[in-house]
Amino acid sequence: MAAYGLVPPSRHSIDSTMNTQHTVYHHPFFSELPRHLRVLYSMILLTLGLGYLFAVIQIFEVHAGVDGKPGLSVRDIQIAYAGTPDNSRLETALRGPMSAMASPGQIRQIIAWVRTGADEAEFNRNIQPILQAKCQLCHASRDPSLGSYAEVSPLTATDGGVSIGALVRVSHVHLFGMTLIFAFLGLIFSHAYVRQRHLKSILIALPFLAIFVDIGSWWLTKVSVVFAYTVFAGGAVMGIAFALQWLICAHQLWFLRAPPEGARPD
Ligand code: HEC
Repeated sequence: MAAYGLVPPSRHSIDSTMNTQHTVYHHPFFSELPRHLRVLYSMILLTLGLGYLFAVIQIFEVHAGVDGKPGLSVRDIQIAYAGTPDNSRLETALRGPMSAMASPGQIRQIIAWVRTGADEAEFNRNIQPILQAKCQLCHASRDPSLGSYAEVSPLTATDGGVSIGALVRVSHVHLFGMTLIFAFLGLIFSHAYVRQRHLKSILIALPFLAIFVDIGSWWLTKVSVVFAYTVFAGGAVMGIAFALQWLICAHQLWFLRAPPEGARPD
């Protein structure tokens, strides 16, 4: 047993000075790890931290302001997944992620065109030149193509939210991606000193539960927009759990020498 670093707690291992029972086996704390492992963990934390920042920016880029009001709201989430009966996909994009791509006047003009029936003659006369000048730079080579009336017209229909195909794609990417992120982070975090070991287990499990709530709610929001609240809650819990684990790891890895004497959780 000792060869595996595992010695069962002895019935007689009462420490006479502390009068507490010690479990001989313990998972090493950061300060007890070889330097190369601490370097590896530091590098992983740095790249994950950077990824986290970009993820937050990305969420705001894509979702904030889609409902016409600045900031990220539950309504923005509802529009993203369930769509909106009074908005087309083109309008949703122009109010949200594409809002900076043309002048406010041009955006108003395109939206007015959509709302008054998306007429083909009007498209050829006034709308196509704007798309040509402001949008085709990117959209000539990426979906959705905005070159012709036939391509733009479907985007002017009522917005049904993200398609099932897109939802399948982002779900599987997120399930794999998030699992790997939180597996790495959780394994590193397992070396952290947390006095309450239940708290440590909870903090490790929390982001995984949040993944289920978050991704499950994307799908459920298509059925009922009430679930936009649990999308929000799941995402928030995931973000907070990530930040807590990351901060505790970074602090203890770089600044905490060893856990206090006699305070090691078993
Ligand atoms: C700098 C490059 C760029 C320019 C310029 C640009 N777009 Fe986009 N557009 C993108 C990217 C990237 C995406 C995908 C972003 C995403 O999924 O959030 C996108 C997505 C879209 C979508 C799809 C949104 C959806 O429902 O999935 C629409 C519609 C759109 N753009 C319209 C426009 C219009 C109209 C213009 C011109 C006023 C424009 N874009 C200009 C890069 C650009």
